[in-house]
Amino acid sequence: MKKILITRKLIKESEDKASKTFNPIFNTNDELYSQSKVIEMSQGCDGILSSLTDKLDKETIDKLPDTIKIISNFAVGFGNIDLDAAKKRGITVTNTPEVLSDATAEIGVLLILGACRRAAEGIESAREGGWKWSADYLIGKQLTGTRLGILGMGRIGQKIAKIAKSLGMIIHYHNRSKLNEEKADGAVYHESIKSLFSVSDVLSICCPATKETENMINKETVEFFPKGAVITNVARGDIVDDEALIDALNRRKIYAVGLDVYKNEPNLNPGYLKIKSAFILPHLGSATKDTRIAMANLAIDNINEFFDTGKCLNKVN
Ligand code: GLV
Repeated sequence: MKKILITRKLIKESEDKASKTFNPIFNTNDELYSQSKVIEMSQGCDGILSSLTDKLDKETIDKLPDTIKIISNFAVGFGNIDLDAAKKRGITVTNTPEVLSDATAEIGVLLILGACRRAAEGIESAREGGWKWSADYLIGKQLTGTRLGILGMGRIGQKIAKIAKSLGMIIHYHNRSKLNEEKADGAVYHESIKSLFSVSDVLSICCPATKETENMINKETVEFFPKGAVITNVARGDIVDDEALIDALNRRKIYAVGLDVYKNEPNLNPGYLKIKSAFILPHLGSATKDTRIAMANLAIDNINEFFDTGKCLNKVN
């Protein structure tokens, strides 16, 4: 049986499944392994089932033992792995798409609602007490008739678009390529981010973090938005230049943010904590039991498929 290092603790059902198909090394205490610990623990292993908390950069990948043939990431995103470095070493990298689209889209919509309807301030007031209902108390932005820009119209973006449309939002999007009519479902395509941002009363960031999307929200692009726009991010923190966004919030150029992901998690930029309107969550996108089991099962299946056939449907490098 193949020996696989599983870097984070999985839900029991998934660990049971892993034990049936390969020889897993579990992380029973769910300790966060350092890069050197991953290198050390992977000695004698055939593969690694990694998570988004493992930084598998070039330096780490170059030091992995030659026996490692696959890194199966327990996430749809794979910005934590240097794909080229893995490819150069003949290591296949896989991800877990589709199974988390619905759960992540739910959080994407929660971010939109939470930021627009001032949920962060509302929760704080309700907990503190002493608030009083009044005609103009915690007035927020209504979604009906509001334009939603979707940056990255993949499976998660399309699902958010569908729900937002049912709430009366008007959908615009930017994507590497224009979608066919069925997938676009009436959403308006913008070839440039400038064009998309200029019509986005609310933005939902749903694209992967890549060299091209890194810091796409920055000092210059934040000015493309209508005054008082809302920016939400359910994808990856690397897409946002935090200083630029916090500055735009402080200047009221941006009305509110809804964020589930951050650069340097879990240490988000403290500037966000000072902003009352910031609706912030601790990376909960895929956090439902069914979804986490489906993701882990897919990560396990990817390893089995790779060793059985030499190929894998969810290979990303
Ligand atoms: C979650 O953030 C994922 O990429 O799976």
